[in-house]
Amino acid sequence: MQTLTVAQTPRNPASESLGQELDLSRRADSIDPSLDLEAEIRRLKREKNAVLLAHYYQESEIQDLADHVGDSLALSQAAAKTDADVIVFCGVHFMAETAKILNPDKPVLLPDLDAGCSLADRCPADLYAEWLKQYPGHTVINYINSSAAVKALSDIIVTSSNAVDIVKQLPPDQPIVFGPDRHLGRWVEKQTGRKMALWPGFCIVHEQFNARRLAKLTAAHPDAQVIAHPECEEAVLEKADFIGSTLALLKYVEGHPEQRKFIVATEVGILHQMRRARPDAEFVCSPPNSGCDCAMCPYMRLNTLEKLYLCLRDGYPEIVMDEPTRLRALKPVQRMLDMSRSLSPVQQKGD
Ligand code: 13P
Ligand code: SF4
Repeated sequence: MQTLTVAQTPRNPASESLGQELDLSRRADSIDPSLDLEAEIRRLKREKNAVLLAHYYQESEIQDLADHVGDSLALSQAAAKTDADVIVFCGVHFMAETAKILNPDKPVLLPDLDAGCSLADRCPADLYAEWLKQYPGHTVINYINSSAAVKALSDIIVTSSNAVDIVKQLPPDQPIVFGPDRHLGRWVEKQTGRKMALWPGFCIVHEQFNARRLAKLTAAHPDAQVIAHPECEEAVLEKADFIGSTLALLKYVEGHPEQRKFIVATEVGILHQMRRARPDAEFVCSPPNSGCDCAMCPYMRLNTLEKLYLCLRDGYPEIVMDEPTRLRALKPVQRMLDMSRSLSPVQQKGD
């Protein structure tokens, strides 16, 4: 079998970084420092009939302004259902792209186009198409953390919420290719007993969690349960009491009132909703390799309140996509939505 090395220098194909940065800093200078940004964002949202979708990894002030806060699946479901005139996506590029795939006639805005994803950036469509040639007759399942061009090469899209469930729905003798997250893929293999061909991608945030440091932490907190996202490596997942998507982790915390302490192995942004749901519980971040106390996604954190205000005010940056790619990507995204109808209701603000 051909071996593949994933490029070490991620490049965001959506980014025309320098031009965008210059434009952003020029527009940021135009913000009156006395402006109440939160009030202005709410006003602009109403004025433009815009819906604000935010992932759990956004900073808490953005989550608090959002109409829907959710994981990747819940936000896709919200995007599929919205009747707003404009979608503002506070998440990363592939998420906003998915919203655009589902809403070709609406402007989909992303506060910072450089908000990419290591999984999507390290799975370029041309390399992926080449790799797939080794697997004729396989069903191509792709994690939603991939570009529209990679989605267009897929049969079904999955998220961490529905991957196990969707793979279980396929005939047992159907061979499967899974990309681009090898850790999620391995976890799905374990849960379903299905062997799959895995693209060797990884999330730079979740791969930083370290089983040795986690073991030290669990020894220091013997009364804590470890909850982890399936993008973590296998050795970390083996130490977890519960594994699930960000929404599943939140639901687990809500559903276990007897448990008062949790060690959380995912991006720190989710703690905002966990603390809100369980003010009585203690949350300890699983330590990443870097020596920091918690893990933050550098791409997600490119979105700020200022950039959110600017994109609502000025109506850009906007996601653009060519129609043939969109149409090819729509099929597997729609298939995912159809195959996960009974899963993960959208968390409405205030739920
Ligand atoms: P979920 O939203 O499916 O939990 O995935 C987490 C993530 O890393 C999103 O980029
Ligand atoms: Fe991508 Fe990882 Fe950031 Fe999620 S947390 S957007 S998978 S880099």
